[in-house]
Amino acid sequence: MKTNFIMATALTVVMLTGCTNGTDNGKQETESVTAAVSFDEVLRSRRSVRSYDATKTITEAEVRELLVATQEAPSWANQQPTKYYVAMTPEKVEAVSNLIGERNKQNVAGAPVLIVSTYEKGKSGFFNGQAANEVGDGWGAYDNGLSNCYFILAARAKGYDTLIIDGRDSDELRKLFGIPESEAIMAVLALGYRAEEPRKPTHRPIDEVVQFS
Ligand SMILES: Cc1cc2nc3c(=O)[nH]c(=O)nc-3n(C[C@H](O)[C@H](O)[C@H](O)COP(=O)(O)O)c2cc1C
Repeated sequence: MKTNFIMATALTVVMLTGCTNGTDNGKQETESVTAAVSFDEVLRSRRSVRSYDATKTITEAEVRELLVATQEAPSWANQQPTKYYVAMTPEKVEAVSNLIGERNKQNVAGAPVLIVSTYEKGKSGFFNGQAANEVGDGWGAYDNGLSNCYFILAARAKGYDTLIIDGRDSDELRKLFGIPESEAIMAVLALGYRAEEPRKPTHRPIDEVVQFS
């Protein structure tokens, strides 16, 4: 029992990298540091970030690692309907940022990566083309949210920051990436490094949203 607890605790320890530290000469300089943080700390420090450090870049290998982490997410009958379209070149990032509304564009300025997430319709929630229940394709959206949740938490655990964006021109995004009509376009995810500390929002009292019986 005790051994299990120690192993579980060890498993929840993740690495947080890319913090900003002061240096000996007093200047603020960004350096990559590694510190063990708990899963609770990942949950607490993950926030919607609307101000990004344009001096920091992210490699394709690093983005791949986060997308592999999303594959651990559960999905309806393991249908894995979520797909990702990753904009990484400055031109493609600019093109996507022009399709998410002016406010969102300003908020993600400096984020080196923008990702369009979709789900393949008619998979999650369907047996042989028949909806398993009244939720129908809503299960595809549900699975997409789970995958994206894994993405934002995995990102935070590795020291990155994210913003989920629903404001977007889906028709133009479809053209930009050649996304087929068989996929529903969901959120755009910004990925980068925070330039300033985000505000923590208030949360509803737990008893307002939970009923025990
Ligand atoms: C489905 C969804 C859509 C969102 N769309 C936007 C958006 O278009 N622009 C934005 O700035 N934030 C957007 N957000 C972020 C929310 O405003 C944010 O998650 C919420 O205020 C709670 O703050 P927190 O993420 O820091 O906990 C979205 C979040 C979700 C889950």
